[in-house]
Amino acid sequence: MSARETLEPVLTPERIRARVAELAAEIGRDHQGRELLLVGILKGAFIFLSDLARALPAPCRIDFVRLASYGASDQSSGRIELKSPCTFDPAGKTVLVVEDIVDTGLTLDWFLRWLKEQGAAAVKTCALVDKPERRQVPLFLDYVGFQIPRGFLVGYGLDYAERYRSLPGIYEVVFAQD
Ligand code: PRP
Repeated sequence: MSARETLEPVLTPERIRARVAELAAEIGRDHQGRELLLVGILKGAFIFLSDLARALPAPCRIDFVRLASYGASDQSSGRIELKSPCTFDPAGKTVLVVEDIVDTGLTLDWFLRWLKEQGAAAVKTCALVDKPERRQVPLFLDYVGFQIPRGFLVGYGLDYAERYRSLPGIYEVVFAQD
């Protein structure tokens, strides 16, 4: 860790584990044994998706997408595209998009429209962390783990300059003042 930043605990691994179990149970109840295609948006969603999938009492297939977003490093421009060719066909499937965090909403908004254009039969959304105060586009999230209004969050898949993704809890990065 840099001397200029410290990490303040926000969500313990136990709290995350308990909430992921609740979300998985709710998703399972809502889909009653119908197969879901879980699609994680890389890289951040890889840990949440793997925990959610293992707790899910429903059959599922799993895939991932890598999306490129253009703009300043801390701000999305809304200009988004697939970074590599898609490895699955969403046509006719019930897709559950799994995100670690929804912030401006631009990434998810673009991807939901893309999935519908590809002919997905139904598209649902599941985000571990929702930051509704920063939303730039209206977005409905079907399943939300936690609403956390502000703070730069890391851990459990979330990074700061590619660091801290492997931390089992979620922390706020606090930057030292000069
Ligand atoms: C993060 C996160 C979401 C997106 C949300 O990804 O995983 O995909 O930002 O932001 P938005 O709601 O403002 O569009 P990021 O671009 O940081 O890439 P990463 O997952 O590889 O860290």
